[in-house]
Amino acid sequence: MLSRSQSKFQQDLLKWYGKNARDLPWRRTKDPYKIWVSEIMLQQTQVDTVIPYYLKWLERFPTLKSLTTAPLDDAMKLWAGLGYYRRVRMLHEGAQYVLEELGGKIPADPEELGKLPGVGRYTAGAIASIAFDKRAPILDGNVIRVLTRLCAVKSDVSSTRTVAKLWQLAEELLPKKQTGDFNQALMELGAMVCAPDNPSCLFCPVSRYCAAYKAGQQSRYPVKAQKEQIEKKQTFALILRKEGKVLIQQQPEKARWGGLWMFPYYERRSSMLKAHGLQANALKRRMQVTHAFTKYRVTLDVYEAEAPAREAQEICEKSHKWVPLGNLKKHAFPSPHQKIVKDLEKHHG
Ligand code: ADE
Repeated sequence: MLSRSQSKFQQDLLKWYGKNARDLPWRRTKDPYKIWVSEIMLQQTQVDTVIPYYLKWLERFPTLKSLTTAPLDDAMKLWAGLGYYRRVRMLHEGAQYVLEELGGKIPADPEELGKLPGVGRYTAGAIASIAFDKRAPILDGNVIRVLTRLCAVKSDVSSTRTVAKLWQLAEELLPKKQTGDFNQALMELGAMVCAPDNPSCLFCPVSRYCAAYKAGQQSRYPVKAQKEQIEKKQTFALILRKEGKVLIQQQPEKARWGGLWMFPYYERRSSMLKAHGLQANALKRRMQVTHAFTKYRVTLDVYEAEAPAREAQEICEKSHKWVPLGNLKKHAFPSPHQKIVKDLEKHHG
């Protein structure tokens, strides 16, 4: 596509990256385990959010071995607040797999990497290129934007055909060496210069190769089919108190927040009242937490109440427990429920 000017394009992009790359903690290492951790954390999560979690994680689990000997619960606690908890379970499982099946050596081949749980084509390409300098392409949202503009790709990026074509393009564009830097340069360009709205084309190191820029049509790309509607959802959580303790509930393994602890929560206020044998006037409204999840914008209304006498006997399921307020932070909560814990701490209950 870029043919003869391709190597100049690669050089210009790499040179820009060498001068302008953000100093991110995972860019100071080639240790495949550390790159793996960073790439899993960076799936669906912004760089700024990831940094403190990544640093804390490596302090606690500096090597693959140290992760394999730790209980999943310890790993979950470090992940709490980062979201999409399947990632941590798969990382923990993947580490065991590497130790037991591959003699503790993380593979360099993207196909082999792709066999690790939670490692899709993108993550396999990122680890192979960044840690091992393999000629493996990557394609994420940022790279899609850069490539569709660079080559004025007019087809819909939500179609699998277009995505396949873009993977091929990402592969063709790769230089023979410094593939990790080149891949990260594409991501960096997408994150810092080739922004979704108002891209900074005047500061772009490769604007002279960019078909969209030449045509003055940067904002037309990437071409997307109609956007999914954001849906609003309301949920309710309860701080149920009994003798200085509150009730929390561990989510079943298969649930979205599997393994984490939460305050009992419901989709209807009436179900909440019924589940705990409460009268409506026993509820006190405490706070409201909002969070976004895939296509939903969720409002969590948090109430509190004293447990009626019968509650003490009835809640004896293993998934539930009464914990003293001071012990709440020993449990891993998902982000919206962490906010409730913080509020309880701040106001000493
Ligand atoms: N997003 C995913 N991988 C990344 C990386 N290595 N650097 C910056 N952002 C990223």
